[in-house]
Amino acid sequence: MKICVLGLGYIGFPTALLLADAGHEVIGVDVNEAVVDRLNRGSISDEEPLMLNLYRRASGRFHAQTEVPYADAFIICVPTPLQKDMHVASLEYVKSAATMVASKLREGNLVVLESTVPPGTTAKLVVPILKSSGLGPDQFYAAYCSERAIPGNVIYEMTHNDRIIGGKEWQSASKAKELYASFVRGTLHLTDLNTAEFIKLIENTYRDINIALANEFAKIAEDNGINIWEARELANKHPRVNIAKPGPGVGGHCIAIDPWFLTDNSMSCQLIKSARDVNDYMPNHVVRMIKSATKDIENPIVTILGVAYKGNVSDARETPAHRIIKLAENEGIHVRCHDPLVKHFEKELETLNEATSNSDCVVLVTDHDVFRTINPLQLAMRNKNLIDTRNCLDHDMWVGAGFTVKVLGNSEMLRPVPEIEATQVKGKPLVEQRITS
Ligand SMILES: NC(=O)c1ccc[n+]([C@@H]2O[C@H](COP(=O)([O-])OP(=O)(O)OC[C@H]3O[C@@H](n4cnc5c(N)ncnc54)[C@H](O)[C@@H]3O)[C@@H](O)[C@H]2O)c1
Repeated sequence: MKICVLGLGYIGFPTALLLADAGHEVIGVDVNEAVVDRLNRGSISDEEPLMLNLYRRASGRFHAQTEVPYADAFIICVPTPLQKDMHVASLEYVKSAATMVASKLREGNLVVLESTVPPGTTAKLVVPILKSSGLGPDQFYAAYCSERAIPGNVIYEMTHNDRIIGGKEWQSASKAKELYASFVRGTLHLTDLNTAEFIKLIENTYRDINIALANEFAKIAEDNGINIWEARELANKHPRVNIAKPGPGVGGHCIAIDPWFLTDNSMSCQLIKSARDVNDYMPNHVVRMIKSATKDIENPIVTILGVAYKGNVSDARETPAHRIIKLAENEGIHVRCHDPLVKHFEKELETLNEATSNSDCVVLVTDHDVFRTINPLQLAMRNKNLIDTRNCLDHDMWVGAGFTVKVLGNSEMLRPVPEIEATQVKGKPLVEQRITS
């Protein structure tokens, strides 16, 4: 089959390669010439496991270009950003991609939208644009099939996750199923267009609300002298409870955005909006922790560890670090940032030594695995404070290195034992004092 994939970003490019690997002839189309040149040169990031091997196997059947060719099937994976001032989906890229496809649409072709969109978009926006090709509604197939892959394990999950396929009618869903079955090993579930679009949004909204609940629990735990991390672990022993982890806020281009797409056409969304607010305001809570840790320090310097929106990825889109930095700087706090994975960020990223030299407080925002290997004894801090917003570091080790440690969601503060006392308490670990802040 000849397949055209429009939009060669995080989702479109691996999808195109998996289809090529399954034996199809794949033309990748992107309006950004730099992307097309880079992919045709074979300049592929090794950030995603399995990606380089997949490219080596599939590149013979993959080619990128800026023009849409004639093909048997078209898959649209273009961005659907949030129009932030109005909290509504911006569908300009989808419209323009559908228009490009319409100009090459022939009888019997299949068009699949993969971009995340408000319910009704494929039926009300994409199909009418495709009809402008001159074909009648029964002369082409249209489907919606979103992606559920997690950044950092995209190739494996694209292959193994179950997927939901919505069809313009049953034949469209079946045609799309045939196409995806060529590389997906998970089960392909068929439904109608609107339901498939809706499912993508409720999955991420469910996760956003679960995180918001965990964040609310974390703040209530702090007010009650309780450690949310211990409480959550024990609550999750209940067979029907699965509370998410609290943290400094929600980022990325899915969980922080998709709930707004769900509310586009509805007035029944109080809980969803509240959850968005809870998560959006977690950076304020983190800044309050920073102010408390540095309150007696003149011109405090703070080091942000991790600006990616989640651990072990290089993606800083919608990261809560943005808001933490902005709010802290507005308080007169000097902020330095270190993230060994992120390549592009609005603020300069420094090496660990540069970012921590003379710093008064380290704030762990992203739980990259590599941060667990930091030796706190080697940091040339002016004052030794650590705020761990993800509860992911070895706190005993940091306290042993002289740091005062505060963990989000835990009212206790871990303080190092003063040296003189430590020498008196023979045989006991340094971390023995748990002082309520
Ligand atoms: N990244 C994820 O993890 C993820 C997961 C599930 C769903 N999605 C959804 O998938 C869609 C794509 O996301 P992404 O992260 O791959 O985006 P991306 O920004 O990484 O890539 C999109 C690409 O589309 C290109 N493009 C824009 N208009 C085009 C057009 N008319 N024709 C051809 N190319 C065009 C852009 O130049 C860009 O290279 C979005 O709707 C997103 O919400 C993303």
